[in-house]
Amino acid sequence: MKKVLFGLLVLGAIMLAACGGGAEEAVTFDPVPAEFAGMTSPLGADAATSGKDVFTTNCESCHGPQGHGDGPAGAALDPQPKNLPEIAAQVGDDYLFWRIATGKPGTSMVAWKGVLTDEQIWQAVAYIRTLK
Ligand code: HEC
Repeated sequence: MKKVLFGLLVLGAIMLAACGGGAEEAVTFDPVPAEFAGMTSPLGADAATSGKDVFTTNCESCHGPQGHGDGPAGAALDPQPKNLPEIAAQVGDDYLFWRIATGKPGTSMVAWKGVLTDEQIWQAVAYIRTLK
């Protein structure tokens, strides 16, 4: 059993090494701080409808209409916005809420808390979940 596990680990390491430097870098996500961890949306199923307005007005210029990082204002940024639907598929709502509320240090992603209400941030989260 141990040998099998070890084999799997080695295989995993080789695959990771093989992928590194490729087009698709292995992404790691910062842990969600305790004050945000486990938060869930208080809103209902229709939140995404309002979220579309929030996103179009505040986020689309950088993130692009489908969140693919291809907004006109995003092109000149370093780092450029990444693919939001891909990120969303790998993280929880608490992560998305935290990032939108507090921003991402070292990038042009500012903190939206104070600009948007908590409700609007949750609406944006719901809308991001509908993007592909
Ligand atoms: C000025 C351009 C700009 C605007 C406007 C903007 N963002 Fe961002 N956003 C970025 C950049 C750049 C990043 C960092 C890219 C990265 O490293 O993932 C980012 C990161 C994020 C992340 C985290 C992705 C990650 O890797 O953890 C989320 C979620 C996000 N943005 C959502 C939004 C939402 C929702 C709005 C609107 C309320 C918004 N952004 C507005 C530029 C922008």
